[in-house]
Amino acid sequence: MIVPLRKGRNMQNTVASLVKDMRFEGVLLVKSADQKISNGNGKKYLDVTLGDRTGEMNGKMWDQNALPPAAGTPVSVSALVQEYNGRLQLRVERMVPVPEGQADMSLLVRTAPEDAGSMYREILETAEGMRWQEIRALTLAMLRRAGEKLKWYPAAQRVHHAERSGLLHHTVTMLRAAKALEEVYPDLNRDLLNAGVIVHDLGKIREMTADESGAVGDYSDNGLLLGHLVEGVAMIRECAREEGIEGESVLLLCHMMISHHGQAEFGSPKPPMFPEAEALHMIDDLDAKMNAMFNARERTPVGVFSEKIWSLDRRLYHPRYPGDDSGASVTADGKGPALKTAGQDPDGPASMEALERLRAAFGGGQ
Ligand SMILES: [Fe+2]
Ligand SMILES: [Fe+2]
Repeated sequence: MIVPLRKGRNMQNTVASLVKDMRFEGVLLVKSADQKISNGNGKKYLDVTLGDRTGEMNGKMWDQNALPPAAGTPVSVSALVQEYNGRLQLRVERMVPVPEGQADMSLLVRTAPEDAGSMYREILETAEGMRWQEIRALTLAMLRRAGEKLKWYPAAQRVHHAERSGLLHHTVTMLRAAKALEEVYPDLNRDLLNAGVIVHDLGKIREMTADESGAVGDYSDNGLLLGHLVEGVAMIRECAREEGIEGESVLLLCHMMISHHGQAEFGSPKPPMFPEAEALHMIDDLDAKMNAMFNARERTPVGVFSEKIWSLDRRLYHPRYPGDDSGASVTADGKGPALKTAGQDPDGPASMEALERLRAAFGGGQ
């Protein structure tokens, strides 16, 4: 049974919508919780960070006897939204753990926009369809090694695809980008590029610890000391031994693994040294940046610049797209900004006649 979040309506206010003096009744996820002692009156209290899929907020629970719940626990909360030092804070009056399996996790954690099962099938079918037998066997062995954790692992703690099933989503969107590029550059070896895409971040399963909510608990010792590129190479070698595969195909995949961050500054000890490795690096970079940009755009109103996005080292702008129903691109006359059409520039190549002349010069029949 799923616990109704508000009696009869199965709805609750989101963290992002909370304002001062509002009451909150509903289920939130514990991000962190500590018992502390007040400097003022020496009494114990709980310092908690609670969140849902829209955001998180710090809270205080003034209860001498309350023990801090573990991070990742869904809790039923009654609280008042207050302001302290210019920031919103919850004054938690009641906080009770929700029994396991009874909270609707999709409301509490950010989740990839596609179903984990169908994303996994798409990846698996690509691997199963490979014709390069050694690469196929290595890719399938890597997927087996990653196991069920792939279902919920995020791709990163916060930079991109930091959500439940984010690693699957990052992999599947990269795979689609790779397939599109393989049409443009038929000289790329499809099996090798697709294999590189599928395995490139599987080392993250050893690099970070993540619970089924998709939240990253911490980096593992191996993650901190070695990182997912080196862990990924270790995994490929383990798979190669298991499958009895030796030789260049193992080496090629290992090279794609360690070079996929492109340069030493970003963790790759070697730059990509063949076309599929370069394409993998470019697609990975593109996909991570697109995800970070779409997320920032979602949080930024039309026509406004975002805060600095640290992972991209810049502020972003939310453009006024035509047809955007925010109305931001509509001018005072209600028509929207005047767009220069081809016929308005008599001297430039944009004029219709000039374009027709150019088309003729290129022998451009229909
Ligand atoms: Fe990576
Ligand atoms: Fe990646």
